[in-house]
Amino acid sequence: MSIDDKNYNLSVELDKIHLRNPTMLASGILGISQSIFERLYNENIGAVVTKSISVDPMKGYPNPTVIPLGCGSYLNAVGLSNPGLHAFSKELSQNKNIPIIISLVGSSEKEFSKMVKVFDSLNILGYEINLSCPHVSKMGMEVGDDPEAVSKIVSTVRMNTNKPISVKVGVGSVDVVELSRIAIDAGANMITAINTLRAMSIDVETMMPILSNRIGGLSGSAIKPIGIRCVYEISKKLQVPVIGCGGVSSWQDVIEYMIAGASAVQIGSVLGSRGPRIFNKITQDLKKYVEKKRVANISEIIGIAHRY
Ligand SMILES: Cc1cc2nc3c(=O)[nH]c(=O)nc-3n(C[C@H](O)[C@H](O)[C@H](O)COP(=O)(O)O)c2cc1C
Repeated sequence: MSIDDKNYNLSVELDKIHLRNPTMLASGILGISQSIFERLYNENIGAVVTKSISVDPMKGYPNPTVIPLGCGSYLNAVGLSNPGLHAFSKELSQNKNIPIIISLVGSSEKEFSKMVKVFDSLNILGYEINLSCPHVSKMGMEVGDDPEAVSKIVSTVRMNTNKPISVKVGVGSVDVVELSRIAIDAGANMITAINTLRAMSIDVETMMPILSNRIGGLSGSAIKPIGIRCVYEISKKLQVPVIGCGGVSSWQDVIEYMIAGASAVQIGSVLGSRGPRIFNKITQDLKKYVEKKRVANISEIIGIAHRY
């Protein structure tokens, strides 16, 4: 039987969102131009998550902002540089068929409602709220560590859109399952786990932190077991789709996240070395896997780890 046989299906459902396969671009990696989204779509990606967008443009930190640490891991403090609400909505205004999820970042409910009111008329699948970036003050994880602020922001976004909302959680001071529960109670439809982990690297010659911001976020292979643990714990306790993220570089990593409970899986840092083609490679390999295992639809493997 050919691997293209329709009996072997990679499609997954995330709340109201149908994806042709479970691969997604993680926020912040190649995520600000429509032409790149089209390139990724031609490489068979399931969906694209944009760079986190704020109301006003943000310049980000000076270099160095991204450091390769070896063994597929990275440290970054880009500082959420992005073109801002209006320039980005213009960029996406011609979008017709690329499945795009807009990542939102901000400090107050007001900022989030302002963004959703503009973005909601675009041809997009939904939103991912970044409550977990670990290196920008008054945004990301500083908001995610405040349960009251999380609840207010998510319910404000909920009030302003009927589109699906995912909340991106990370490893901060509030337990990841508890934080996810607060987000779901406030109206989120799904959870993305995880963001980078707060980390630092020092140059022993200059005796200085290497990143201009000193502290940044660890991503890539080193964080995969933490991402797997978070997806497992969240999907065990909460009956909502979970999107896995952290350290994915192969089809085996995608399958591992799905067995842990992820309905879809985001891919980020590895694009730096492998480029957009990795999406086509992984989806071809996933097809071979479901055929070998005789799994009619890949979604059948979601959460199998919970059976034991
Ligand atoms: C350079 C860089 C920029 C990132 N920017 C964002 C961002 O704007 N918003 C966000 O939610 N996550 C951002 N992330 C985190 C990624 O989306 C992802 O959660 C994290 O890198 C773990 O996945 P990975 O190991 O596949 O890279 C960024 C990561 C990197 C490496």
